Amino acid sequence: MGIAFRTVPPAVPLAGGHRPLTGHGRRLNTDALAFMRELRGYGPMVRISIGPRPVYVVNSPDLIREVLATQARGFDKGAMFDTLRGPLGDGLTTSAADFHRRQRRLIQPGFHHERIERYTDIMSERSALRAAAWRADAVFDMVPEINRLTMDILLRTLFATDPGPELHAAVKEWLSVKYRSMRLALSPLQAWAERVPLLPRWRPPDGGPLDRLRAAQQRIIDAYRADGGDRGDLLSMLLLADGPDGAMTDGQVADELITLFLSGTGTISAAMAYAVHEISLRPDIQARLHEEVDTVLGERPPSFKDLRSLPYTRQILTETLRLHPVSWLSMRRTIQPLALGGAQLPTGTDVFFSPYALHRDAGLYEDPDRFAPERWSGSAAKPARGTYLPFGAGNRLCVGEEFAWAELTIALACFAGRWQWAPAPGQPVRTLVGTVIRPERVPVTLTARRTGRP
Ligand code: HEM
Repeated sequence: MGIAFRTVPPAVPLAGGHRPLTGHGRRLNTDALAFMRELRGYGPMVRISIGPRPVYVVNSPDLIREVLATQARGFDKGAMFDTLRGPLGDGLTTSAADFHRRQRRLIQPGFHHERIERYTDIMSERSALRAAAWRADAVFDMVPEINRLTMDILLRTLFATDPGPELHAAVKEWLSVKYRSMRLALSPLQAWAERVPLLPRWRPPDGGPLDRLRAAQQRIIDAYRADGGDRGDLLSMLLLADGPDGAMTDGQVADELITLFLSGTGTISAAMAYAVHEISLRPDIQARLHEEVDTVLGERPPSFKDLRSLPYTRQILTETLRLHPVSWLSMRRTIQPLALGGAQLPTGTDVFFSPYALHRDAGLYEDPDRFAPERWSGSAAKPARGTYLPFGAGNRLCVGEEFAWAELTIALACFAGRWQWAPAPGQPVRTLVGTVIRPERVPVTLTARRTGRP
């Protein structure tokens, strides 16, 4: 879907570097993070194009708020989510309008405070076990370790009893398929192919892994339905949730499970890996973290009650998600004509904003590229409205936000109780840019702090 360039009102500036066939495609595909930051120099709103497809990039916190909250009903989620709908089905992330509102009402209770309290026991136990398995003898890449941990925690919060090897294998196989949703959304070739029927188009990948995952999930859903009780896990909540339009069908539950696998693992893994990396570079920050964890927890594992008593740990994580907001680019598309920032946008207009660029704006954050957890201390603990959006805002705010804070805080406290870490010499950490930003590897050397911890 797209609109012709001539319909774009001239008041909104066109970013420099536009090329005839690709538009700004080259920048978006080679150095998107730097490009997004440069775009803030054009003011509250700027136009770019991906091949023939015009895109409005909103920069000002007020306009971002209009898109995410005040005028949210005028938008769906746009290009990236069209390609994600194949592998994710119609789950919370990809669904729209009334159906999204209904699903959100049904799912939200699964992420309420009391449920998170139960999940934190799992987070603490699994993080402590993972940290206990590390060794202090060589350079150690934290990324696969963290990936294992986040998947382990998600599976155990979704299913109170181990769902068995069939599901583990099916999830692993499905996650290994590259859906390339962000790359496609930013591809000039794909944008042209949507316009010109003869051009080769992207074809969805082989559906086998998705079918096998659905089949494995269905067997588990059948067992839960037969049993009928609340096992205290997320799947029970999905099956028992009821609203004015009734409960979810098996197919809807399956779509939501798949959505949670995708949204609840890669995001947390990336944030945790960046936190470990940033801490490894700053012995002063690490020492304060150790002090807090030792004072508050001593030798015992962290629990739900401790979340409020670890303010410095939280500051480190808040700063990690400022500097590395893993959802670095958010997309929307108008589903009706609307006015935004003085421009009239026809139906089908793409609108982007970048939390990454927002969070690194020198007008909003002093010395924005510096990792400085202290900027979140005391009265500065709460960011100015619309300036800190790692979890989005409005009706599509991340449903897993509290879950994510809990898991990140507990895991980091477990790691810090047991280990001191330093960056492995001569091994720079490279950021990979896809649907999320994440460090490719985080090589560290570990030193044991104490033994005898749980
Ligand atoms: C550090 C971790 C996380 C980050 C940074 C993050 C970020 C986000 C962002 C920015 C959005 C909104 C996207 C948009 O407006 O286009 C979102 C939505 C969502 N997130 Fe998260 N997320 C995280 C963890 C989680 C976890 C742990 C879960 C579930 C277990 C989860 C489930 C979801 C779902 C289902 C949505 C769609 C909500 C809706 O559209 O109603 N996320 N997330």
